[in-house]
Amino acid sequence: MYSVARTSTLRGASRLFLRCESTKIEASIKINDKSYPRDPNYTNVTPSIIDHVNRSLHKKPNHPVNILRDLIEKKLNSVDNSFTTYNDFSPVVSTFENFDSLGFPADHPGRSKSDTYYINDKTLLRTHTSAHEMECYSKINSTGKPGFLISADVYRRDEIDRTHYPVFHQMEGCRVWKGRSIEQMKQDLNILQQHLDKHEMNLIVEDQSLNNKSPSENPKQQYMTDEEVSLVSQHLKRSLELVISEVFNQKIKSMKRENNTTQEIPNELKLRWVNAYFPWTAPSWEIEVWWNNDWLELCGCGITQQQVILNSGFEKDSTVSWAFGLGLDRIAMLLFEIPDIRLLWSKDERFISQFKDGEINTFKPYSRYPGSIRDVAFWLPGTTESEEIHENDLMEIVRDNAGPLVESVKLIDRFQNPKTGKKSLCYRINYQSMDRNITNEEVNEIQKNVENELVEKYDVTLR
Ligand code: DAH
Repeated sequence: MYSVARTSTLRGASRLFLRCESTKIEASIKINDKSYPRDPNYTNVTPSIIDHVNRSLHKKPNHPVNILRDLIEKKLNSVDNSFTTYNDFSPVVSTFENFDSLGFPADHPGRSKSDTYYINDKTLLRTHTSAHEMECYSKINSTGKPGFLISADVYRRDEIDRTHYPVFHQMEGCRVWKGRSIEQMKQDLNILQQHLDKHEMNLIVEDQSLNNKSPSENPKQQYMTDEEVSLVSQHLKRSLELVISEVFNQKIKSMKRENNTTQEIPNELKLRWVNAYFPWTAPSWEIEVWWNNDWLELCGCGITQQQVILNSGFEKDSTVSWAFGLGLDRIAMLLFEIPDIRLLWSKDERFISQFKDGEINTFKPYSRYPGSIRDVAFWLPGTTESEEIHENDLMEIVRDNAGPLVESVKLIDRFQNPKTGKKSLCYRINYQSMDRNITNEEVNEIQKNVENELVEKYDVTLR
């Protein structure tokens, strides 16, 4: 999520030691029959990532991500049918759409090459569905509906473990009030509240953002009145509460129906609202749900910054709007009790045959194939912080060589020689396939390639 700068052990590193290898690299990158020029200073998207374009799990019949998307769209549109749905946007967007149009500052960590897959300096694989807000706001007049929902695959360079995958899915939602009619806002809120009151889920909502002692921490926008902020934020919060009630109610029903879960079946749902920060909303919040004895962050949201609306061609001070962005994969994993995010990408019949559109059921694990662990330990070439390797760059080398055969990569040791100042790192790579047995020879081969690439690109000395 873009609320906080994510930190990693090796943050702040540069690509000082990245040597340009003279291997044959095509001058352009082809995605969906369109060619994009490479840029040696920017291009970091790899063939294995491009292979994920068009898998579109959010549209794949009987797939958990599709089932969840459909459930949310239906629930939101059951209230007053006010959302146009967009599920087919291409993942290739401009840096303007992904960042500038939303007011990301020039030095925001999300823009860095270590976090984002760039095609070239102006083009990237979208890192979030917010990249399409501007385009969809500008279509509001022609759709005749005051809201829209965008679902899509999004791409981020990240660590490797059971809950992180470089491609995942988000749903964006926005709702506008053109003309800023207070009467309309009240009426819309009323209808929504009636749906929430009728819902069978017993909700307990704590709103920490209401005891905001210093409003300057999460300020409202100047152009809006207090009453508007109150009505629009209530509409936003009640909409998300309704969605979450529905999703978790379906889960609870499925737990009762299957009657085989080791988890305790809750008879109420606890939610809490907390203050947040996003460049394109003010004020901003996050909603969390209490599930399995833990607070789980579900969704970021807020009242859209007027600048985003102006970028979409609206007249100044004419319109107010809310926006939210929700990650679908982790919620799907929780609903269907899927233990490893790679399973979502599995083409194995034993996985995909288990689910049915419109239903939530618990995933039944088939035999787990044994894993194989390898460590890679190396000395970094220099002694300063800028000479380190960004952890995401190391992750990418493993991903590129191992594809779906890597379960996790963890830093297990870090050592600095007090005399020379030289630093050594050791990473543990767990190779394991979701679908088949892997041989030792196969793993050795991949491990050798990972090591060679580290030496070639970063000038490290293997230990
Ligand atoms: N795009 C954000 C992310 O990926 C999620 C988000 C937060 C979307 C707040 C929104 C919003 O529209 O208002 O972390």
